[in-house]
Amino acid sequence: MMNFTVLVLGCLMLTYSCNGSMEEIVGELQRELQQLKMKTVSYENEMKTLKTSSANEMLAMKKASANEIQALKASSENKIKALKQHINDLKEERCNDSKELKRRFVLGTNIFAEKPAFSASLTNHSTGLGNYQSIIFDNVFTNDLNAYSGITGEFTAPLNGTYFFTATVMSHKGEYLETEICLNGNTLVKMYSGDTYYEQGTNSVVLVLKTGDKVWVRHYGTVGTNAFGGHWSSFSGFMI
Ligand SMILES: *[C@@H]1O[C@H](CO)[C@@H](O)[C@H](O)[C@H]1NC(C)=O
Ligand SMILES: *[C@@H]1O[C@H](CO)[C@@H](O)[C@H](O)[C@H]1NC(C)=O
Ligand SMILES: *[C@@H]1O[C@H](CO)[C@@H](O)[C@H](O)[C@H]1NC(C)=O
Repeated sequence: MMNFTVLVLGCLMLTYSCNGSMEEIVGELQRELQQLKMKTVSYENEMKTLKTSSANEMLAMKKASANEIQALKASSENKIKALKQHINDLKEERCNDSKELKRRFVLGTNIFAEKPAFSASLTNHSTGLGNYQSIIFDNVFTNDLNAYSGITGEFTAPLNGTYFFTATVMSHKGEYLETEICLNGNTLVKMYSGDTYYEQGTNSVVLVLKTGDKVWVRHYGTVGTNAFGGHWSSFSGFMI
């Protein structure tokens, strides 16, 4: 032990110059120790700073992810809400569709078939019309299901259902004209075309018809017996 101490001291003496005294060596060692202590304190402070900053970082990250989760939650909640609404809408639509199907089948119509629709105008003047004489709109534009006849001027309902009809008849100058839309020969609505100039009388009607019912336009009365042609007069109808 004694030998080892002597050896260490000998070495130290060699290291810190052979001229240095024992006090000088101890002083040197103390300074080094002091420096080491200071370094340690500095490291400790650095560690503390690192710890604090990483803790803050962790906190910030936690906060950010919490916000993100909150946002995701809100967005998915909204999406679920929208989907629910969509499903409800679809349900309601299907319910409405089946109600409509039922309604139409009760009325005895076939919704899968084409619906009747027609439109026709008068090419030539219709002159010398007698009381209740039909006005025959010969120029047929449209005739779905061929329910209108450009020969007789009659529309014959091919299906039970609700229909809309409209007619316009023009008079000749200086001569008034009265006409009407009739159903199976019974007057429904009348049209008066004035005698001041060439004037158009018009009227419309919505009817619930059964298969075979007939609708047409006819002259009414005995005075004013000429309907104006040249496509100034027309008759149209369709199933609603
Ligand atoms: C279903 O019918 C009701 C009542 O007629 C109507 O208010 C609603 O808008 C319809 N819904 C859809 C989705 O067509
Ligand atoms: C059309 O209506 C009449 C009278 O309401 C009814 O007797 C007939 O069965 C109906 N036709 C169809 C095809 O439903
Ligand atoms: C319209 O008048 C012209 C000329 O008189 C005639 O050729 C034609 O057949 C008439 N059309 C109808 C549908 O009466």
